[in-house]
Amino acid sequence: MNIDFTYENPTAIHFGKNSLDVLGDELKKYGDTVMLAYGKGAIKRNGLYDSVMKILQDGGKKVVELSGIMANPTYKKVVEGVELVRKNNVDLILAVGGGSVIDCAKAISVSAHCEEDYWKRYWIDFKPLANEVVPVASILTLAGTGSEMNAGSVITNEEQKLKMGRVFPANVNPKFSILNPEYTFTLPKYQMVSGIFDMMSHLMESYFSNEDDVTTDYLIEGLLRSIIHSARKAVQDPKDYEARSNLMWSSTLAMNPIMGLSKKQDWEVHMIEHQVGAYTDCAHGMGLAAVSLPYYRYIYSYGLDKFVRYAENVWNIDGTGKTKEEIALAGIDALEAFTKECGMVTSLKELGATEEMLPQIANSTVILDGGYKKMTAGEILDILKKAY
Ligand code: NZQ
Ligand code: ZN
Repeated sequence: MNIDFTYENPTAIHFGKNSLDVLGDELKKYGDTVMLAYGKGAIKRNGLYDSVMKILQDGGKKVVELSGIMANPTYKKVVEGVELVRKNNVDLILAVGGGSVIDCAKAISVSAHCEEDYWKRYWIDFKPLANEVVPVASILTLAGTGSEMNAGSVITNEEQKLKMGRVFPANVNPKFSILNPEYTFTLPKYQMVSGIFDMMSHLMESYFSNEDDVTTDYLIEGLLRSIIHSARKAVQDPKDYEARSNLMWSSTLAMNPIMGLSKKQDWEVHMIEHQVGAYTDCAHGMGLAAVSLPYYRYIYSYGLDKFVRYAENVWNIDGTGKTKEEIALAGIDALEAFTKECGMVTSLKELGATEEMLPQIANSTVILDGGYKKMTAGEILDILKKAY
């Protein structure tokens, strides 16, 4: 473990079938005005909205609603939320939904007391958080992003055609998150498997970097095995509580800073997907699935030993009589076969991309330097063409 670290995570997790029971007591810790933030209606259809509203009303809260938060939440939606918070002196933002709703809530939280152009300050210039935040809490309905226990917030500026993510300090984490796996039962299969690829991608982004011997890499291998195992069960039977609960907790852990401690990390697949998302508005996990396979086939030779380890430890590839190259490629093939088995989308065309978009996506992608190979815009374009 060669990279020193400080780890802090202030989110209280309430996990299980009865976890909503704690909401009333948790709410007592905050002031009277709660902003209830949610998406486009899933929580109204499955009854969660009514249950949460009753608890809020029984607790004597004044409720301000921010509804219609879209998948891939926009800067415009953040502005709408900021205005509501400022006008109503909101004491707590309660996000009920998937990563988009929680990310939007965090963006509103950091922006409401910011006196300058918050999009530019926080998502373009990546300046430090320098103002008070409004506390956020979450009730999660989709397992994938890990937003329920981290300080990340990914926002799309539609006018600028930029989807930008950033990680804030731990005081932006949800104060508490309620995780009831049963809330994910109503997810369409498309969203369920998109979330599954997203959680795997978070782990692979961290894994495919550096050659040090770090505990984190062993944790990642175990978590990936657990996700693959439970995903197969959940695809067969979406109401398998055990499988859905394993996936829910795995996704929380997967995008938690703990899975990147003491190691370099890549994250280039996410940078490419974010721009794919800015142009196509696709489901995040599906965009990642499409980009990952050509990306890994492109970079594996630069980190050959790690790709061999991945093939053997995650996918049980038997290396007997094979070259390192063959083992590494067999691991990537196993990932591809798994995406097909689960019904994930692996072509950008299917996600709404056009050939004309590809150079624009490549040229607007943020290029990082944490992985085995620093990309150029030209190389990203080649990968996008292969993903098309
Ligand atoms: O709008 P509603 O009606 O709520 O429907 C949503 C939405 O259409 C639906 N849904 C959610 N829970 C449901 C449900 N439908 C039925 N039953 C339920 N229980 O699912 C659709 C997708 O929801 P969304 O929140 O967009 O999905 P996800 O959780 O995958 O979030 C994606 C966003 O998070 C960002 C992504 O880039 C994307 O913008 N990410 C956030 C990260 C973070 N904060 O750390 C990291 C990730 O890498 C990611 O970038
Ligand atoms: Zn992701």
